[in-house]
Amino acid sequence: MHEKTFYITTPIYYPSDKLHIGHTYTTVAADVMSRYKRMRGFDVMFLTGTDEHGQKIEERAAAAGVSPKAFVDEIVIGPGGIVDLWKLMNISHDRFIRTTDDYHMESIQKIFKALYDKGAIYKSVYTGKYCTPCESFWTESQLTDGNCPDCGRAVKNAEEEAYFFRLSEYGDRILDLYENHNFLEPVSRVNEMVNNFIKPGLEDLCVSRTTFSWGVPVDFDPGHVVYVWIDALSNYITALGYGNEKYHDFDRYWPADIHLVGKEIVRFHTIIWPAMLMALDLPLPKKVFGQGWLLLDGGKMSKSKGNVVDPYILADRYGVDALRYFLLREFPYGSDGNFSNEVLINRINTDLANDLGNLLSRTVSMVEKYFDGTLPEHQESGPEDEPLLALANPLRDIYETKMEQLAFQDALVEVFQVISRANKYIDETAPWILAKDAVNHPRLARVLYNLLETIRLTTVLLLPFTPESSEKAWAQIGADPAICDWDSAGTFGLLPATVTVKKGENLFPRIDVKKELEALENAVG
Ligand code: ME8
Repeated sequence: MHEKTFYITTPIYYPSDKLHIGHTYTTVAADVMSRYKRMRGFDVMFLTGTDEHGQKIEERAAAAGVSPKAFVDEIVIGPGGIVDLWKLMNISHDRFIRTTDDYHMESIQKIFKALYDKGAIYKSVYTGKYCTPCESFWTESQLTDGNCPDCGRAVKNAEEEAYFFRLSEYGDRILDLYENHNFLEPVSRVNEMVNNFIKPGLEDLCVSRTTFSWGVPVDFDPGHVVYVWIDALSNYITALGYGNEKYHDFDRYWPADIHLVGKEIVRFHTIIWPAMLMALDLPLPKKVFGQGWLLLDGGKMSKSKGNVVDPYILADRYGVDALRYFLLREFPYGSDGNFSNEVLINRINTDLANDLGNLLSRTVSMVEKYFDGTLPEHQESGPEDEPLLALANPLRDIYETKMEQLAFQDALVEVFQVISRANKYIDETAPWILAKDAVNHPRLARVLYNLLETIRLTTVLLLPFTPESSEKAWAQIGADPAICDWDSAGTFGLLPATVTVKKGENLFPRIDVKKELEALENAVG
């Protein structure tokens, strides 16, 4: 049994509409991190799922003339739905939770009752403002220009008998988490939490509703359903079997190593969630990482702004690996980034088609052309090889440092520096000249061997990002998967000296930007 465990989660998504490329951002990041940790020998638990209760879903279902369950089933498990999307995107989650699953609902009732029994929840009357799309209650003072401070939309008056969670008691302990335990990253998000929520003083949180019924019923008080965020946040422990008999992994994986969340829900994950866990006397997650948003024209992503944001269409046109790579290469993970189809295509062309794709196809073609596909014995590396080797040798350790910080963009930049250097090495060593005279063939074989090794090392490190393409590259360079693991990525020279290559398909065909942008216009009509 593995000693080291790694528990990582994505937010659980609202099945209120089809997911766009922005939603895949967090899930791909969690997948990359999971694959990286598995490569490192960790026993990984990667959880994702769907957040299916609440007034918003109830209203959407009513508008569609179907029951809420039928409505969410269609979007979650229906054809072209969320489960299919993760399959398409090659997401390697270990568990998928739906908050309508019986075991989860059973746990939520127990958690709510436990909080009530401990005195952390009490019954009172709620008066205030409610934002329906965000399913958030606000006090007058929290509004921005009279509107919801999260989404900017209009709020309505609300008054109802409700249960309250004593959130106001946790401010100091939560502040301590930020200040002394690196609980929230990137640190830029800490100020926002402290200034907007902790400093003004936390207020008790309304945690039950009576105005609609699509939620987990409070079993000891009919008519009340549990507030959707109490229901949703608890997924991270119910999915491990907390409060139910469906799973028995709580002791093994809790506390989570990292919750990846979008910046708009950092507040729920770094104030309400730790307070709930404190009230339940449970250990706290080690870290919450608040990533940025993919924006369209500087604004929130939506479907119809002249850009294609449907991940099904994009994956179909460019390949899943190209899309995965783009998402984590283009933008620093903690910051917002402007998405456009043009930026996506240019990135694929520059890095994947030109740099990596060319390196692979040129190298394999040369081994086939000059040596019929099998390298002969080669001479030792010389001083001309040093610049390439000096970059390739420490790559794995540098990459590791970046990955541990979730600095995916930096990790990829490091890998591609070595790939670019290898392309330059081809120009410097001019294999086509060495090939002309048999006396230079041992040197030529060394040059080609160094190139194959560079491809092996870099594609092993790219494996978490581009899992299918890396494996295809190994097949082309004749690398047995046994020398394509984490340990092997730290050692140059593991390919057999007389390796046999096999040219395969072009992994990342170059895209004609102008034609493609026109085709995309037509694809969305
Ligand atoms: O908030 N760019 O669900 P959700 C980057 N159910 N990331 C984006 C994005 C964009 N344009 N749009 C969405 C919920 N995301 C709750 C979560 S967790 C206990 C409950 C990502 O479907 C981002 O990570 O509205 C966001 O937090 C997540 O999708 C979920 O969005």
